[in-house]
Amino acid sequence: MCGIVGYLGPRTTYEVLLEGLRRLEYRGYDSAGVAIQVNGHLEVIKAQGKLSVLADLLAQRKPEGRSGIGHTRWATHGPPSEINSHPHCDCEGHIAVVHNGIIENYLELREKLQAEGHKFKSQTDTEVIPHLLEKYYRGDLEKAMQRALKDIQGSYAAVALVDKQPGLIVAARQYSPLVAGIGEGENFVASDIPAILKFTRKAYLIDNGEMVVVTEQNIDVKTIEGKSVKKPVFQVKWDAAMAEKGGHKHFMIKEILEQPDALRQTIGQRIRGRGPTLNLEETKFSDAFLKRIKKIVIIACGTASYAGMAGGYCIERLCGVPVIVDVASELQHRECMFDKSTLGIAISQSGETADTLQAIRMARRQGAKVLAITNVIGSSVARESDSNLYIQAGPEIGVASTKAYTSQILAMLLFAMKLAEVRGAIKPARLRGLLRAIKKLPDQAAEFLAKEAKHVKRLAKKYLWCKRYLYLGRGPNYSTAMEGALKLKEIAYIDAEGYAAGEMKHGPLALVTEECTVMSAVVEGEHYEKSLGNLQEIRARGGKVIAIANEGDAEIEKYADDVIRIPKTDELLSPVLAGIPVQLYAYHVADMLGCEIDQPRNLAKSVTVE
Ligand code: G6P
Repeated sequence: MCGIVGYLGPRTTYEVLLEGLRRLEYRGYDSAGVAIQVNGHLEVIKAQGKLSVLADLLAQRKPEGRSGIGHTRWATHGPPSEINSHPHCDCEGHIAVVHNGIIENYLELREKLQAEGHKFKSQTDTEVIPHLLEKYYRGDLEKAMQRALKDIQGSYAAVALVDKQPGLIVAARQYSPLVAGIGEGENFVASDIPAILKFTRKAYLIDNGEMVVVTEQNIDVKTIEGKSVKKPVFQVKWDAAMAEKGGHKHFMIKEILEQPDALRQTIGQRIRGRGPTLNLEETKFSDAFLKRIKKIVIIACGTASYAGMAGGYCIERLCGVPVIVDVASELQHRECMFDKSTLGIAISQSGETADTLQAIRMARRQGAKVLAITNVIGSSVARESDSNLYIQAGPEIGVASTKAYTSQILAMLLFAMKLAEVRGAIKPARLRGLLRAIKKLPDQAAEFLAKEAKHVKRLAKKYLWCKRYLYLGRGPNYSTAMEGALKLKEIAYIDAEGYAAGEMKHGPLALVTEECTVMSAVVEGEHYEKSLGNLQEIRARGGKVIAIANEGDAEIEKYADDVIRIPKTDELLSPVLAGIPVQLYAYHVADMLGCEIDQPRNLAKSVTVE
């Protein structure tokens, strides 16, 4: 994980670095630091804890210089501490490095360097990089970097400064994200575009195996062997204010409330006309390939994998193509899952999740094609897949994924429609009906938020005593149960389990007592009657039931202690709407318990390590 940033130019360097790090804090936040070129030497200032601790130190010391690098850390090797925080230096403090990724052979390199007399201070893998640079430095940082990278195995976005060459930054990328921001008389490097958005809207997206040599006036992109690379300029269309909290207490609630817009953006121009018709030309796959697919495997982690479950259910029902969902960390070892007639669908908000990337690589090696459903244009997942369907939900900053989740489901639904259409698996009238229903989802989400958001908050208060939850669902809303439980765990730190409701009798029913609250999505459709039966079993054992049910469903009152109402839609589409109340509920519980909602303990937004 970790976020990195570098700056060269006339502005107050430490302020630019801090601004960048603030935008990257979602990538890690257990410690932070900067190194700045000050009058021929490097001033390194680091602090354990949140960025505000570093900001206070910098405000006191005000290091002045025209170039610097910064880092916000999420520990992988060595616990969070000032010593382990970046930047790391060589023996004499002439070279400073910030790094995101993992150096796999660091122990071996460290022992070798120690035997050669290098003195290490930290327990990190990163520290081998400045020592390797020290070893190979002969007055040219670029050459030293090229040589050092030959020794390194693993993943990195690494940025280096040397006191003897002021006004120069050298950065390299292998598997961890890196962009170079283009300014006028100033330039930037960073893990991610939001870090530089305040200063520039133009950037180069650096690919694996590439490095950048940056001065105030120039950015040279090269391969790590030193060959020049001609890169197109990437124009950023995001508005900086889009990434701010917009007056809300937390990014999470802001992002929950943004869902009607996010869903609208996901639909974009993809459903057209009064017919309406579906336009997914961007997926690029030929009809012949789409007809040939025998199996679909969802490649994703965390919330994105639950979006895959919901969308996968729809694909199976409409197209009759089996869909396998497994978390990417497991999937990457299931080689027999993939072949030429398999389509992998990689779902990732950030597009940088290491496990997801590994599974994509394996799937493609086995001959499968991969469709990426991501939020970040130009991200690694997008670039390493055969085709892309961007969710267009806008930047998501809260660690707990919300708007990306519902937009990911929606993108999956759109793809399900396309597949069903091409394969002739759906009657045209049914397809039109579903497309019309999908078009209504953004307004229905807005309607739900307007009518029910306060009620959900009241329920969160009413059940604040509860320390054990079960989330249940069937069919398409099995995913809602899994995602609801995950949300409550990750931001409110409450024990919650998600289960397929039919599985209750095989174990979880034993957990149901008066101390247990059960949240269940019971929408009208194929699974309705059986779901009511499950609620009955729970109440018979003293458990409390909060049902997420459709507006106008009078029956449900008899089976639940409390009801949250969502607008009625086709059952296949219902996870989009049922996903919102479980997010809101977890948010309010966590807020009332005083939890750090946007940065839950031990978690990070983008997990770029396996
Ligand atoms: C982390 C985040 C989750 C997210 C998961 C996958 O664990 O905390 O919210 O669902 O990564 O992230 P991705 O960016 O691939 O969707």
